[in-house]
Amino acid sequence: MNNTTDNNPAFDVLVIGSGAAGLSLALEMADKATVGVISKGELTEGSTYYAQGGIAAVLDETDTVESHIQDTLDSGAGLCDPDAVRFVVENGRIAIQKLIDLGVDFSRDPDPEKTGQEYHLTREGGHSHRRVIHAADATGRAVETTLVEKVQTTNNITLLDHHMAIDLIRDKRGDKRCIGAYALDIKNDRVIAYGAKAVVLATGGASKAYLYTSNPDGSTGDGIAMAWRAGANVANMEFTQFHPTCLFHPEAKSFLVTEAVRGEGGKLRLGNTKRFMDKFDDRGELAPRDIVARAIDHEMKRTGDECVYLDITDKPVDFIREHFPTVYKRCLDFGFDMTEQSIPVVPAAHYTCGGVKTDLAGRTSIDGLYAIGEVACTGLHGANRIASNSLLECLVLGAASAKDILENLDTMPDAQALTPWDESWVRDSDEDVVVSHNWDEVRRFMWDYVGIVRTDKRLERAKHRIDLLQTEINDYYGNFRITGDLLELRNLVVVADLIVRSAMCRKESRGLHYTLDYPDTDAKQASPTMLDPERNS
Ligand code: FAD
Ligand code: SIN
Repeated sequence: MNNTTDNNPAFDVLVIGSGAAGLSLALEMADKATVGVISKGELTEGSTYYAQGGIAAVLDETDTVESHIQDTLDSGAGLCDPDAVRFVVENGRIAIQKLIDLGVDFSRDPDPEKTGQEYHLTREGGHSHRRVIHAADATGRAVETTLVEKVQTTNNITLLDHHMAIDLIRDKRGDKRCIGAYALDIKNDRVIAYGAKAVVLATGGASKAYLYTSNPDGSTGDGIAMAWRAGANVANMEFTQFHPTCLFHPEAKSFLVTEAVRGEGGKLRLGNTKRFMDKFDDRGELAPRDIVARAIDHEMKRTGDECVYLDITDKPVDFIREHFPTVYKRCLDFGFDMTEQSIPVVPAAHYTCGGVKTDLAGRTSIDGLYAIGEVACTGLHGANRIASNSLLECLVLGAASAKDILENLDTMPDAQALTPWDESWVRDSDEDVVVSHNWDEVRRFMWDYVGIVRTDKRLERAKHRIDLLQTEINDYYGNFRITGDLLELRNLVVVADLIVRSAMCRKESRGLHYTLDYPDTDAKQASPTMLDPERNS
């Protein structure tokens, strides 16, 4: 920690978020800079911990970088930035080696002499090759716990869990660079102003904007909303990815059933056991996710069924238990034995392909502010992320941003004394019911009107409701004591607004954005949707 006061501590680098992106960046910098990592819950709580399938990278001699690049571009439906794709894919092998060196225990190949592979590689949708390295079906847990153990024993890193960033602080003079962030110290109920030479957003995605999501509760788009309020450019927010297969059960909270189940031969069936994916794409169950999720949605609407079924019972029992121990156990908890029966599945919101626009060093449009991981939009994913490229992007961009920050740290202005948080207006409120009602409302209309299939009319309806909610929240936010729920709601509604506005700009269907009013792809619209707060607010 640099020179500080209790209410205004300072670091060289303030990292907001402790998932794969934030922690991998922190580790890259810690021997040369002081790093503060703030995280709104337990350090491990974020999407990273729950990642199942694995990390895509070219690790097999018969695979090629060009093939991984091509699959990523195909999945991205004409909207990927080819430079971003090449950069991330080319750095894949190094990123995986770093994790192995840190001690991540990836699953071994059962027959290395035959395959020539030390590690087992699985397959997922859109990939024309087996290239997903994994730790059974709990890859994220292996990665996150290893990173957390490492940061806990690394000098120069200060870990501040249960600290929720509220807003970024910009210098009021000169270049208006980002110089810190206000954060709510949840356990002590006080707001602290953290100063830094550079601030890194690593806050993950925004899928909680939807009623049904595979994501943990904290995926409320805080980083995107904070960056937007601070004046950063945001791109491609219309592209929310819906994962095709989440467990359909009222108490399962859309538990994810990894795509690797389909990669290892799982088939999708209707209630009458008929397969249907071949009607939609030659790749069948292994088509990119936008196609599979839309096909399921179409079949459910056509038949009136509440779900479809995923069937891997063809595989030996031992194979299923060994490859998918987490999914197997969770399904059993709900009464489904996947070794003997098909399991009921539905799509749910899973990944935010858009986000804070950055270059390939994680730099945003605001000096001193970086964004990495799911919060960012580097151009890698385009209109639809291919499976298992997300953790890869977290690691590659974490390293690239760390390098850029370290190279420029000496010329960045020192952290300065910050204006304390203004608590003059704070009053307690007993209206928590309003906050929770608004939470439910926004998530429900986003699901109904801004989901897998959209129309102009539905988007307009959603926009109307968002405007009303924003008025209510502004009233609330300015007058009452802040709570985690209120802060998240405020962010969710900003993100919902950005999603709807971006969707309204795109008068075509492409990748994850499908609208009945413009069902075809229009080559003239093959460019990212950029929202600039100065022009679009
Ligand atoms: P996260 O891991 O989500 O971490 C975000 C961090 O930011 C958390 O520490 C959170 O507490 C913190 N934070 C957020 N807001 C604030 C705030 N206001 N103040 C302070 N802290 C804040 N991708 C793959 O590549 N392969 C997979 O197999 C895979 N499987 C997945 C399975 C599931 C169930 C899910 C949900 C996602 C999966 N993904 C997968 C996607 C991938 O896990 C995420 O995109 C990736 O982990 C995001 O990492 P991150 O570091 O950007 O964010
Ligand atoms: C999965 O395991 O199906 C999720 C993979 C991903 O989201 O990349």
